[in-house]
Amino acid sequence: MTEIRKLDLSSGAFRANSYAVYRELRDSAPVAPVMLPSKQQLYLATRYDDVMTLLKDSRSFVKEPENAGLRSRTNVRWLPRMFRAMGSNMLYVDAPAHTRLRNLVHKAFTPRMVENMRARIETLAEEQLDMAEKQASFDLLEDYALPIPMTVIAEMLGVPEKDRSNFRKLSEKIISVDTNNGNLGMVLPILRFASYLRDLYNERRRNPGNDLLTALVEAEAEGDRLDEDELLAMGLLLLIAGHETTVNLITNGTLALIEHPDQMQMLHDHPEMTRSAVEELLRYYAPIEIATDRYVASEDTELGGVEVPKGTLVLACLGSANRDERRFENPDRLDITRDPNPHVAFGQGIHYCVGAPLARLEGEIAMRTLARRMPDIRLAVEPDKLRYRKSLFLRGLETLPVVPGVREKSF
Ligand code: HEM
Repeated sequence: MTEIRKLDLSSGAFRANSYAVYRELRDSAPVAPVMLPSKQQLYLATRYDDVMTLLKDSRSFVKEPENAGLRSRTNVRWLPRMFRAMGSNMLYVDAPAHTRLRNLVHKAFTPRMVENMRARIETLAEEQLDMAEKQASFDLLEDYALPIPMTVIAEMLGVPEKDRSNFRKLSEKIISVDTNNGNLGMVLPILRFASYLRDLYNERRRNPGNDLLTALVEAEAEGDRLDEDELLAMGLLLLIAGHETTVNLITNGTLALIEHPDQMQMLHDHPEMTRSAVEELLRYYAPIEIATDRYVASEDTELGGVEVPKGTLVLACLGSANRDERRFENPDRLDITRDPNPHVAFGQGIHYCVGAPLARLEGEIAMRTLARRMPDIRLAVEPDKLRYRKSLFLRGLETLPVVPGVREKSF
């Protein structure tokens, strides 16, 4: 029996050192029993192959606890009905419920809708750097990485400008709730979020627009539509997933390039390499370091040579899979020309990221613009002063203070 590791997977201190821990786990206990500070026990899969199996085999590893013989996550009597729908959004359900929701969102969230945002994203990136370059130092997260995806998803959904900072605060509250103490802290912010979204949907029903909320209201697949609660759950998921992740791609990606000035210089000299550079940044510092919950559906399930009991929570460590030396040559080296680059930063299998094309577009424009205008950007603090946000899933810095290092002026 492998020893149970006590790991505080969601702490900022853990995240600052997590790659070293994962390397050790990949070698000695690739599917490791782990105990969190809350005493919750789970298994953590750290090798590429096991992570792929976990994500792709959606029959053996399920999202709904009741499909693994456990109590339902949302069938709690005191929970408002709408809140239950929130808990059964696309990311937290298995087929066939998942297939239905995913088909409907594909009708609404189209490649053309993403491509239509290109010029807007370019303008946003230039404008943010126009402001930033005037300062001796600035917070790259707050002043560059956040405004781009936040504005884009808010505009796609049709959230008016005056409401956006409030939106950000609520979204931050929801994802930073300490779930070691249960999910109770999320209820209030989610209810407030939902009530706001409900007003927006009603407005779109009266005045249909060219936005994602209108498209979701109108989305129809095989005569089927999203009901009111599902619309709220979907709007909330897209809004949160739409910016809490991309902000980390841009922030972590910038940090990686600051740490590797030769790669930053290469990107500056060869903007045509941006596409492969962004894939490499996604691999190197995966914005979602640990994928969401999966439970073992039946007895006798084996993963990476370990028998995991029915009902066990198993987490796929994307950040570790992306650094697995069994899959990637020199995995700890940042190489923006890496090809092929089969990273798993967007997941795999039926829950593969719906927003990947949008995230890639935002990431490419943000990194290309930054490398063109500020190739000499550097940290404004010592590296050991950087702090990571508390989160089980995300790899996200609290701030990234930088000195601009401008070469090309905006005028
Ligand atoms: C760099 C940015 C992003 C990263 C790294 C990322 C990563 C991921 C990952 C790893 C998953 C699967 C999680 C799991 O299996 O447990 C996922 C799912 C999802 N993502 Fe993203 N994401 C990003 C941006 C976005 C954006 C911009 C949107 C929407 C506008 C979005 C919407 C979604 C949705 C709706 C799902 C659930 C899909 C399903 O359950 O079928 N993501 N994302």
